Amino acid sequence: MRYTGNKSRIAKHILPIILKDRKPNQYYVEPFVGGANLIDKVEGFRIGADSNEYVIELLKSLQDGWTPPERISRERYYYIKENKDENKALTAWAGICCSYGGKWFGGFLSDYQESKRTKSGRLPNHQDEARRGVMRQVPSLTSIHFIHSDYAFLEIPENSIIYCDPPYMDTVKYKDEIGYSHFWNWCRSMHHEGHTVFVSEYNAPDDFTCVWSKEISNTLSKQKNFKAIEKLFTLK
Ligand SMILES: C[S@@+](CC[C@H](N)C(=O)[O-])C[C@H]1O[C@@H](n2cnc3c(N)ncnc32)[C@H](O)[C@@H]1O
Repeated sequence: MRYTGNKSRIAKHILPIILKDRKPNQYYVEPFVGGANLIDKVEGFRIGADSNEYVIELLKSLQDGWTPPERISRERYYYIKENKDENKALTAWAGICCSYGGKWFGGFLSDYQESKRTKSGRLPNHQDEARRGVMRQVPSLTSIHFIHSDYAFLEIPENSIIYCDPPYMDTVKYKDEIGYSHFWNWCRSMHHEGHTVFVSEYNAPDDFTCVWSKEISNTLSKQKNFKAIEKLFTLK
């Protein structure tokens, strides 16, 4: 699913590390599941939670067989934006998958599409691409338990593997959205309770160990073509 901070590009690098010592029947938990772009590549017992109730509603509706509309118009996009609670799954569909860059109501995707008409006059159909992408993802969402929750209140089964992908600390849009010192303390307490904790971030406090890093371009940055070092941290 098109999503800000989508981790599908790095899944093949980090999942083998995260799942290396997973025991049979051990839960894999994502408290910041977003577009479910990593959890959809994991098998077995899984919990995906997010504080965005609309995205959770979309993921649950997709599991129940709901299909997004073939196309939404500009007028409908802005109507949905003003009436978010009428149909929460549709709101998430419009607000994320039909929005420029997958950013929450970050601008109607088809307006962007019009500006990208090719020399031959062909119009790329981004809404259709987004729809086909999501429909391809649906079979791998079966059996994931999706929960609308703040990470701090999420109930996690004993001895789980917890992968955290919070909004990046130093991206402009998300500046201190989650209260980072509270977040790092929560990771420490999860570790002390017996869970195995991994975090995707650019930087972490000194007691966290970096177990993987790679240079990746980042579209959220103010600087054009900015490349950041994506890292995976754990507590030992
Ligand atoms: C970087 S995105 C996750 C992207 C996801 N890994 C993917 O590949 O699609 C971060 C997510 O954290 C969620 N979030 C922000 N604050 C939160 C909080 N306090 N508790 C739970 N989720 C939160 C946002 O709604 C967003 O979906």
